[in-house]
Amino acid sequence: MCGIVSVLSRNDGIIRDLIDCLSRLEYRGYDSAGIAYVDKNSRLCVKKTIGKIASLEKIIDFNEGARCRIGIGHTRWATHGEVTIQNAHPHTSDEVAIVHNGIIENYESLKESLMKDGFVFDGVSDSEVVAKLISYHLKKNNDFLKAFQATIGQLKGAFAIVAIHADYPYMLLGAKRGSPMAVGLSPDSQRFYIASDAVALSSLCHDIVYLDEGDSVVCELTDELRYRILNSNLEVVDRQKTRNNVSLHDVTKNGFEDFMLKEIFEEPVVAQRVFRNFKCNVNVADYRSIYIIACGTSYYAGLLAKYWLESLSRVHTDVEIASEFRYRNPVLSRETLYIFISQSGETIDTLSAMRQVKNMGFKTLAIVNVEGSSIAREADECIHTDAGFEIGVASTKSFVAQTMVMLLLSIQQKSRLNIDGITYTMYSILNDGFVIKALAERIKDKARLLYLGRGGSFPIALEGALKMKELSYVSAEGYPSGEIKHGPIAMIDHQVYSIIIAPDDYYVGKTIVNAREILARNGEVLLITTGKVLANLHDLKKNKLVDHILLKDQWEYSTDPAVDQLLRSWPYVTAIHMLAYYVAKARGLNADQPRNLAKSVTVE
Ligand code: M6R
Repeated sequence: MCGIVSVLSRNDGIIRDLIDCLSRLEYRGYDSAGIAYVDKNSRLCVKKTIGKIASLEKIIDFNEGARCRIGIGHTRWATHGEVTIQNAHPHTSDEVAIVHNGIIENYESLKESLMKDGFVFDGVSDSEVVAKLISYHLKKNNDFLKAFQATIGQLKGAFAIVAIHADYPYMLLGAKRGSPMAVGLSPDSQRFYIASDAVALSSLCHDIVYLDEGDSVVCELTDELRYRILNSNLEVVDRQKTRNNVSLHDVTKNGFEDFMLKEIFEEPVVAQRVFRNFKCNVNVADYRSIYIIACGTSYYAGLLAKYWLESLSRVHTDVEIASEFRYRNPVLSRETLYIFISQSGETIDTLSAMRQVKNMGFKTLAIVNVEGSSIAREADECIHTDAGFEIGVASTKSFVAQTMVMLLLSIQQKSRLNIDGITYTMYSILNDGFVIKALAERIKDKARLLYLGRGGSFPIALEGALKMKELSYVSAEGYPSGEIKHGPIAMIDHQVYSIIIAPDDYYVGKTIVNAREILARNGEVLLITTGKVLANLHDLKKNKLVDHILLKDQWEYSTDPAVDQLLRSWPYVTAIHMLAYYVAKARGLNADQPRNLAKSVTVE
C-alpha cells in the first residue's frame, strides 16, 4: 500500500535511481506518483502526477535534476482522499517535503489545531499533516531532526515516513511505526537509501537492514555518508543486516508480456523448488488442532490445506479470514498451532491477528514469501515459501508455494508425493495455453460467472472467482457444487456461465450431476476436466453442450491412492490462473496492475 523511496548521495544524478526504485515499487499502488528533491540552488522541487511512474517520468527534466543529491519518491494507493494532484505525495510545507505509507489515525485533530495556527491545507489526505506538523515544530526550535522527532511522537496509526528539508540537503530522516521500512548503502558506500522494501533496492544494495517497530533512521552526509538507527527511546541501536535476495530475474519480465504470465509459467518450477528445499521443525501432529488465519488468496491456500491436514494428519483444522478473526474475540487454546499465511508478510489484518495470538502466549507459525517481512520476523517459527519475488498484483505462483508447504506439513513424509506427476499436469496446462486463450475470447463478455467445485476443487473454485474478479472486474462467485441447489441455482439462466472444476476424482460423478442441473436450466458450462471424464459424457460432447479445458489423463500424484485422490484438483489452479489472465487481456486490461488494488495491503 503505497511505496516510498529516498536517497542521499555523495554524487549527483539521483533522479534516475528514484524513478527506477519507484517503478519497482509500483506493485504497491499506482494511483498517483511523485518525487521531491533539493536542486543545485538549494531549492525544493516537487513533481507529481496522477497515474503511474511512466507518466511521472514524462514530466521530469532529468537535466535540471542532474545535480541533486537528495530526494524522496512515492507511488500511491489512495486511502484518505481521492486520486488528485493535491492528495499525491510528496507533501510539502515551507522547505519540508515528506512521503508517507500507512494511515495517520489522529490526523483530523492534528489538522484542526494546525489550521488554528494558520496552516493552510491543499488536499484532504492524512499525510499532509505530517509535513505541516514538521514545519510547526521547526518554527519553534529550528532544528530539523528535533522537529521530525517531535512530529513522529505526536502521530497515531501505522506508518513509514521519510522527510527532507531544503536547508538540510545533507540529512535524510525516516521513521517506522507499523509499516515496513528497509534501509541500505550502495556497495561503494556512495548512496544511502530508505525504501518500503527490498524490491525497491534490488540491484542497488546487496545488504539491507529492516527497521524494527518504533525505529527511526538518520542519515547524514559530512565527509562521508553515515547513518544511525534509533529505537523508540532514541537510543542508537544495531539492527542486523540481511542479504538482499531479490534478483534481477525477479524484477524483469524475461520476454513475457506481463509479470503475471511469467509468474504463472513459474508455478511448476516453484512447486519443485519448495518440495526439494522444504525443511521444518514443526510437527502438526504434536497439536490438538490447527488454526489457519489469512486473507485473500492466502486464505484460500489455508482452506485447501484444511482438506489435507484433516485427512492426512487427522488434526482438527479451522480456517478464518484475518480481518474477522482479529475483532471477534475467538476462543483460543494452548494446544492449538496458529498458522498465518501471507505472500507479502505485511498484510496488516494478518499481522495484527498474529500479534494478538502471540501476545496471549500461543504458538505462531508463519508461512511467508517475503523474507525479512514483519510477519516473518515476528512469528515464533517461519517457513519461507521461496516462490521468488511476485510482482503481479494477483497472487499466482505464491499460492502454489503456500499450498505445497501446507501439503508437506500435512503429509509429513515427502516420499509419499510424486512431485513429477503434479508438475507434469501443470506443464501440460501451460503447453495448452492457446486453448485457454481462445476460450477467454468467448468468456470475456459474459456478465456473470459461477465457479464450482467439490472437495479440494472448492477452494480452487474460490481462487478462480477471486482472480477473475480482481483482474477482469467481472462478477464471479465461487461455490461448493453441492450447495447450488440451496440457493444459487435460482439465478441460473442463459446469462450465467459456470466454470466447473471436475478432476477425475472421487467426487466427479456428483460434480457432473451438478453440471447437468445447470445445463437443464439453460446455463452455460465450462468443464475443466480430463479427456477420460469427458469421454463418458457422450451426449454432452456430441451435442457440444459444454465448453471444456481438457487436462491430460492423470498421472499419479502419490503411490497412496487416498493421498492421490486428495490432490487431484490442486494442479488445476494453473488453468484457473491462466483463464483469469487471458480474460483480462481479452478485455484489454492491465493484468499486472488491476484497478483499485495494491500488492501488499498494509491498511485496514
Ligand atoms: O500478502 P498476502 O498473501 O497476505 O495478501 C493477501 C491478499 O491481499 C492477497 O492474496 C490478494 O487477495 C491477492 N491480490 C489475490 O490475488
